[in-house]
This record gives sequence, C-alpha cells and structure tokens, in this order.
Amino acid sequence: MKEKIEKILEEVKTFHADSKEALEQFRIQYLSKKGTITELFTEFKQVAPEMRKEMGMKLNELKNTIQDIIDEQQKQFETKSEGKTDLDLTLPVDAMNGSRHPLSIVRNEINDIFKRLGFVVAEGPEIEDDFHVFSALNFPPDHPARDMQDTFFVTKSPDVVLRTHTSSVQVRVMEQGKLPIRIIAPGRVFRNEAISARAHCIFHQIEGLYIDKNVSFADLKQTLYHFVQEYFGEGTKVRFRPSYFPFTETSAEMDISCNICGGEGCNICKHTGWVEILGCGICDPNILKACNIDPEEYTGFAFGMGIERIAMLKYQINDLRMFFENDLRFLKQFENA
Ligand code: DAH
Repeated sequence: MKEKIEKILEEVKTFHADSKEALEQFRIQYLSKKGTITELFTEFKQVAPEMRKEMGMKLNELKNTIQDIIDEQQKQFETKSEGKTDLDLTLPVDAMNGSRHPLSIVRNEINDIFKRLGFVVAEGPEIEDDFHVFSALNFPPDHPARDMQDTFFVTKSPDVVLRTHTSSVQVRVMEQGKLPIRIIAPGRVFRNEAISARAHCIFHQIEGLYIDKNVSFADLKQTLYHFVQEYFGEGTKVRFRPSYFPFTETSAEMDISCNICGGEGCNICKHTGWVEILGCGICDPNILKACNIDPEEYTGFAFGMGIERIAMLKYQINDLRMFFENDLRFLKQFENA
C-alpha cells in the first residue's frame, strides 16, 4: 500500500489542469465518494496495527497534497474567468522586473538637471521635412549635411527625411509662437554613417533652447557650467572653443576636463586633458525670423549634445555599439543605476 500511495503522490504532483473541467475531473478521480482516496481508506482498514500510524500519515499527506493542488490551480481559473489579473497596471514602471537601458538612465538624469532650472521637455517627429531639419535652421541649399551621404531620405521630392539632429524640435517649438521658450528635446536621430566604435547610424541627442528678452552668452555659459558640475561632479572644468553652426552666431563647442584621468591625459582624451561634449551658441537672428520671432526684441541660446557620448564618458564605455547590442551582460551592470 505504501508504494501505491507514493506512486499516486508522484503522479498528482506533476498534474497541471489546462481547463476548469480538467481540474474538476481530477477532483472527482481522487476526492469524490467513489474516488481513489476513498478506496485507499477502505483498504486502510485491513492494514496491520503496527503499520497503521505510518500508513495513516501517508494517506493524509496524499489527501492534503491533492486538495492543495486543486486549491492552487483553482485560483488561476477564477482570476482568468473573471477577467482579473494579479498585476496592478497602475503601479509605476519602476516596480516591474527588468532595468532601464543606460541611455534612458543618462537621458533622464540630464533631463532632471535641466528641469530643475525651469526647462520643460519638448518632442518632435523623427520623420521630418527639409524645412524643420535644414532650411529653417539656416542651412544653405548646398550644405554638405543635406547630402545623401549624411541624410536618410524618405522621399526626395518633396524632401522628407529622418531627422539628422534634434535641433528640428527648436523650430517646431518656435513655430508655436509662445514666448519665452525654455525647452530641452531628447530624442533619436539618424545619419547615414558606417557603424563603428565611435559612430552609429541611429543615436540620441538632447537639444536645449532658451529664448527670452536679454538672453546672453553669459547665460549660456552659466547654464552649461551648472549642468557639468551637477552631472560630472564639482570641480569639473569647462572651456568653450569658437566653432561654426548655421543656426547659431556666436557658435562654440564645449569641452570638459577629462573625467577619466582628471585632466592628466589618457587615451580617452587623447592626452589633451579635455573632451568635447556639446555644440552651442547664440541663436542666429535668421532662425528667429524664420519662425516669426522678432530678433530685435528676443535673443536666445541653444545647445545640442549626444547622449551616447555623455554616457560613454560617465560610465567609461569605449565602444558605442554596446548600447545597441542588447547584451544582457552589459545591460545588467545598470540594474541599480
Ligand atoms: N545640431 C548639432 C549637431 O547635431 C548640435 C548643436 C550644435 C545643437 C549647436 C545646437 C547648437 O543647438 O547650438 O551636431
């Protein structure tokens, strides 16, 4: 009898009902008046007195196990049939399994710093027209960035493109005509580049734009200086180098003191002690005009940075492709970030 009970115990443990009916069938087979357990209790009457205690316990164990299996599997059908689920869909995403992608972590951190300064997040489409990506931003018709080499065209006439930078969102926001403007625009951009450790055809940028009365280069410097101290740590040095962008005049590129070697010189900063992190400048009056903003009354500054670049510096990642390969060994390192 002992073997019989043990065999049944093994059997029932692997049982899985795929329907309510199958579960009821299982209950009838084992627990009904004419079921296996009743039969076993009848047999039990003939068990020798010295074996009774052990057999009784075994039999009860079997009965309880079967009851537990039924109760457990029953639950599953009840919730399903009532259309309910144990998941609370109103919980914040953070409470769910998995972790954020490092690029999302960095984007959120950058957003938060600028939000605390009063910037709001703006969005624009990834599929854009020539006007928003180039013309309104003062790109001359023969500018090399418009070339097929750089830009992915969706249609050539009219020109519909995948945006090559998030500066297009500047134009979208200015067009709305609500002043002053203080926005940051994070998003995905596309360029026809060969994929390597330093470049990708899809990457991410954050654009910033501030337009108000009396905005000056000093405001731009102070805002970006504050960002760098917050993000890379106090004591990080910044320097501005003159540069050129069609939509800013004065234009600059900003470097920070290398956060890997502390400015001593290493292969990340190519032994210069400095790394470039963004382009910026005072909005060219032409782009304000293109969006019906009077440049006599308003001035502004803009800046744009690559999220991958910031993340690479922050986490000392030396191959940009890591962000796109979805290798769990890489992603898991950001679980607690
Ligand atoms: N759009 C530029 C790029 O993709 C980055 C940039 C430079 C944005 C200067 C700006 C700026 O707003 O003022 O390279």
